[in-house]
Amino acid sequence: MDLYLMFHSVLMHVSAAMVVLVYIPLSIPVKIFLWAFVKPLRRENLRGKVVLITGASSGIGEELAYQYAAQGACLALVARRKKALEDVAAAARERGSPSVLVLPADVSDADQSRRVVEATVAHFGKLNHLVANAGIWSICSFDDVTNITAFHKMMDVNFWGSVYPTYYALPHLKASRGKLVVSSSVAGTVATSRMSFYNATKAAQLRFYETLRAELGSEVGVTILAPGYVESEMTKGKGIQSGGQIAVNEEARDEQIGVFPVGRVDDLCEVALDGIRRGDWYITWPSLFRPLKLVAFLAPEVLHLACQVMYSTSSSKGKGAPLGKRIMEATGAKRLFPEGLRRNPVIKTEDDGECCDHGKQDSAT
Ligand SMILES: NC(=O)c1ccc[n+]([C@@H]2O[C@H](COP(=O)([O-])OP(=O)(O)OC[C@H]3O[C@@H](n4cnc5c(N)ncnc54)[C@H](OP(=O)(O)O)[C@@H]3O)[C@@H](O)[C@H]2O)c1
Ligand SMILES: *[C@@H]1O[C@H](CO)[C@@H](O)[C@H](O)[C@H]1NC(C)=O
Ligand SMILES: *[C@@H]1O[C@H](CO)[C@@H](O)[C@H](O)[C@H]1NC(C)=O
Repeated sequence: MDLYLMFHSVLMHVSAAMVVLVYIPLSIPVKIFLWAFVKPLRRENLRGKVVLITGASSGIGEELAYQYAAQGACLALVARRKKALEDVAAAARERGSPSVLVLPADVSDADQSRRVVEATVAHFGKLNHLVANAGIWSICSFDDVTNITAFHKMMDVNFWGSVYPTYYALPHLKASRGKLVVSSSVAGTVATSRMSFYNATKAAQLRFYETLRAELGSEVGVTILAPGYVESEMTKGKGIQSGGQIAVNEEARDEQIGVFPVGRVDDLCEVALDGIRRGDWYITWPSLFRPLKLVAFLAPEVLHLACQVMYSTSSSKGKGAPLGKRIMEATGAKRLFPEGLRRNPVIKTEDDGECCDHGKQDSAT
C-alpha cells in the first residue's frame, strides 16, 4: 500500500520537475512570441457587441462601461443605485455606445441576477461579455468585529453576486462564444492584514473562475482581473465597518494602503480592456503587484513579516498609527494619490426609495 502511494508520489514529483525544467523554459519564448505578434492581431472588435457590467454605478465598473462604450459596444448596466447608473448610462452614450440599458438590481439575489440577464438578452437578442464586477470591501481586524453576521454580506455580494449572473449568462455566452470577466483582486492571492473577509471572498472568486475556465475549455473565455489598489469608492474608504454598518472610513483606508500606490481607474481599465479583447487569462495591474504574487507563493513568511511590520500598532500598545501609514505621511506619498481620492472624496448617494425593482427595463435608447 505504501509502495503504491510512493509510486504515485514519485511520478508526480518527476512530472512537476519536468514542468519546471522543460516546459516552462520552452514555453516562455512561445508565450512572448504570441503576446508580441499574434494576440495583438486578434483583438476582438467590440462594435455592436453586447456587454453586461455589474457594479457599473461607480469605480472600476463605471470606467469599464465608458471604455467599452468608446469601442462601440452596447451596454447593460447593473448596480443598486439607479440614479448613479442613469448618469453613467448618459455619459456612456456620449462616449459612443449605440445603446445602453439601465437595470437596477442587487446581484446577491439570484432572482434579480436572472432577471437582469433575461432583460439584457430580451432587449439586445444576445450577450457577448459578462463583466462580474460588483463588490464590497471591508478593512478591519477580525478582532475588532462587533457584529459578525453583518459580514455574510461580503460573500453574498463578492462571491455569490458574481456566481449568480454567471450562471444565468452562461448559456448565452456559449451561444455567442463570448467572454466572462470577473473582478477578483491581488488580495485573492496575497495575504494582507485586516482584510480577512475581503480576501477570502476574492480567493473564493479566483478559485471558482479558474475551475470554471477548466470546465469551459475554449467555449467561453475567462479573464480574471486582479487589480491592486485603484481609485474607486472602495479606496475612498467605503466598506463594511467593524460594527456591521456600511460607511466611509478614510482613516482606516490610509492605514490599509500605507506605502502602496493607488492607480488611476482609467489606466487600469485601458489595460484591462486591452487584455479582455486579447483574451488574456489574468490581468494584474499596477504591475508592481505581479512580483508580489510570486513572493507570496515562494516565500509566504516574508510577506507575513512585512504585514506584521506594516500593519501592527502594538509598538506602543495599540496606540499610534501603523508603520505603513506613518511612512505614507512622512513621505507625503498621499499627494500622489489620483486626484479623485485626494479631493474631498464624494461617494455617490443612495437612492431614496427601494432600489431594485429588478430587471425592469428602464431607459433604453
Ligand atoms: N479599487 C480597488 O482597489 C480594487 C482592487 C481590487 C479589486 N477590486 C474589485 O473591483 C470591483 C469593483 O470595485 P470598485 O473598486 O470599483 O469599488 P466601488 O466604486 O465601490 O464599486 C462597487 C460597485 O459594486 C456595486 N455593488 C455593490 N454591492 C452590490 C450589490 N449587492 N448588487 C449590485 N451591485 C452592487 C456598487 O453599486 P451600488 O452600491 O449602486 O449597488 C458599485 O457600482 C470589486 O469587485 C472589487 O472587489 C477593487
Ligand atoms: C448586525 O448586522 C446585521 C446586518 O447588517 C443587522 O441586521 C443586525 O441588526 C446587526 N446586529 C446588531 C446587534 O447590530
Ligand atoms: C487573507 O488575509 C489573511 C490575513 O489577514 C491571511 O491569513 C490569508 O492567508 C489571506 N488569504 C489569502 C487567500 O491570501
